[in-house]
Amino acid sequence: MTPSASGSRVAGKLGLTDRTFAGPRSRKLASAVKSGLVRVDRALERELRVTDRLADAASRYLYDAGGKRVRPMLTLITAQLGEGTNDDVIDGATALEMTHLGTLYHDDVMDAADKRRGVPSAHAVWGNSVAILTGDLLFSRASQIMARQGDRAIRLQADTFERLVLGQMHETVGPQDGEDRVAFYLKVLSDKTGSLIAAAAQSGLIFAKGPTEFEQPLVAFGEKVGVAFQLLDDVIDLSDDPDETGKVPGTDLRAGVPTMPYLVLGQRTDAASVALRARIDEGVERIGAGEDPSILDAELAELREHEATNSTLELAHTWSNEAVAALEPLPDGAVREALTRFAQAVADRSS
Ligand code: IPE
Ligand code: IPE
Ligand code: MG
Ligand code: MG
Repeated sequence: MTPSASGSRVAGKLGLTDRTFAGPRSRKLASAVKSGLVRVDRALERELRVTDRLADAASRYLYDAGGKRVRPMLTLITAQLGEGTNDDVIDGATALEMTHLGTLYHDDVMDAADKRRGVPSAHAVWGNSVAILTGDLLFSRASQIMARQGDRAIRLQADTFERLVLGQMHETVGPQDGEDRVAFYLKVLSDKTGSLIAAAAQSGLIFAKGPTEFEQPLVAFGEKVGVAFQLLDDVIDLSDDPDETGKVPGTDLRAGVPTMPYLVLGQRTDAASVALRARIDEGVERIGAGEDPSILDAELAELREHEATNSTLELAHTWSNEAVAALEPLPDGAVREALTRFAQAVADRSS
């Protein structure tokens, strides 16, 4: 199977793409995006090549494993508010997807995640150093592509990446004493995920020379939909269906990475919730000391069914609704319809 076929197979199964383009006015837009995605995949394939054999294999590794291509899809959609897909739009979409790809190499090291996109994560194959350096290599390549597009593009890339990195850093370090943990975490989500999704939506408009008055609404949309996307990611971490997610269930929970269901659980004061939280914390500590991660299986299942997880889903819907509201200044048409449907699908996704 070719990489692009494997990518679209994943997207089809998820239904995110199908749902985005299910509207009555989406046919032409869907075909423009589809052919744009083929061009982005071709560009990724080309730009990921490295003469060094090990670097080449490591760089292509997660690309070959699949991925939903959510960010390029958004870029290609918003480009239709301007002159449509052009070479600059493809460059922007390619650079941002490559940035995303690089963050996955690093994120799996930080989260001690064994699987990504259905395959062993890069650090599990080559070790931490190669995984980190491969991520760095992809960031360099992404910057090279953006630099071709001039000052504004490279600045967008750098500013976005700075926010993403600070989001990851704040997540790693955690809130200050007395700081509201949920508010802190929502800020982490908009920085680590909303920033790149917003840049993807914004860059389609910019590179296709669309009306500047739509830029801020698209940034707001991307930020909010990014938070909704990441909240669902936290729920998906509790999923009991690894085949669907391509990740090991409960990776974040077992590694002590605080996710929204866990934080909401921490706000609950009933005895059962307090006890569950204490058992999770104790399990995380024991896993940290070398015990088998499966010791938290029962707690994982309990949290999945807990009201805190439902609350997280509700919160995702709130953010998704706000994303849709941010689109208000856009003209009523296929682009707005697709973005609206995308936001709704994000808050319902199961993988
Ligand atoms: C995973 O993003 C990392 C997050 C920011 C949640 P995606 O869910 O878009 O990952 P791929 O590209 O489809 O693998
Ligand atoms: C990933 O966040 C965010 C970035 C890579 C910037 P997570 O750690 O929550 O995402 P997954 O679950 O590993 O994809
Ligand atoms: Mg992770
Ligand atoms: Mg992470």
